[in-house]
Amino acid sequence: MNLMLFGAPGAGKGTQAKFLIEKYNIPQISTGDILRAAIVEKTDMGMEAKKFMDEGKLVPDSTIIGIIKDRLAESDCKEGFILDGFPRTLAQAVALSELMSNMGISLDKVISLNVPDELIVGRITGRRVCSKCGASFHVEFNPSKKEDECDYCGGELIIRKDDNAETVISRLNAYHDQTAPLIDFYTKMGVFVELDGTKDVSEVTADMLNALS
Ligand code: AP5
Ligand code: MG
Repeated sequence: MNLMLFGAPGAGKGTQAKFLIEKYNIPQISTGDILRAAIVEKTDMGMEAKKFMDEGKLVPDSTIIGIIKDRLAESDCKEGFILDGFPRTLAQAVALSELMSNMGISLDKVISLNVPDELIVGRITGRRVCSKCGASFHVEFNPSKKEDECDYCGGELIIRKDDNAETVISRLNAYHDQTAPLIDFYTKMGVFVELDGTKDVSEVTADMLNALS
């Protein structure tokens, strides 16, 4: 199963990806997580990407497309994958189509989690993420069982550097200007499914699994 989770920052892509990993036993490919790992490792690519991420802007297409090309070639993607936060521009979407066509595969579904902007700021500012596995929690809406400890791997929960009220505005602007046009692209491809992302986490999961069955 080749899936994509689509939606604004804070829509719940990372949260729902964890359920798809368990259900289908396929890897989550989050360009945000890959970039954050490169920043921790202080690679040249990570240091360059950091400038854009700290300002809530998109990292250049050439960097992102290179990351995805390498990642999809890895052996754990043979049975499928879950794209999370990629593609985010038309150029990335076109590059993905070419890449998948060369691999002889296609997208099964693009699941869009629809959440209005006014709910996004509260989600982002209350988020806590695992420093080890990247899992997302929320102090109010989706708390971890133990404070500051990840339910999945026991890693320390931290606040992402770009999770502040100012950066959220530029991330939302980037989403509306550069990413939302992809809705049309994937609707025309016949794979776009829209879900109400404002429901409780478990209800969104149920709707998503229903859409995929
Ligand atoms: P990235 O890491 O992808 O961040 P994002 O798209 O801004 O998305 P988020 O991770 O913020 O949100 P999410 O949808 O995963 O929500 P989550 O499940 O955590 O990208 C970061 C940066 O990297 C970008 O700004 C850019 O600079 C760069 N980048 C990455 N990919 C790129 C690309 N392809 N091209 C160019 N640049 C790129 O949930 C959010 C919160 O809400 C959590 O606290 C969660 O617990 C809570 N929550 C989840 N679901 C619910 C629910 N149903 N009800 C209530 N609360 C909920
Ligand atoms: Mg995420």
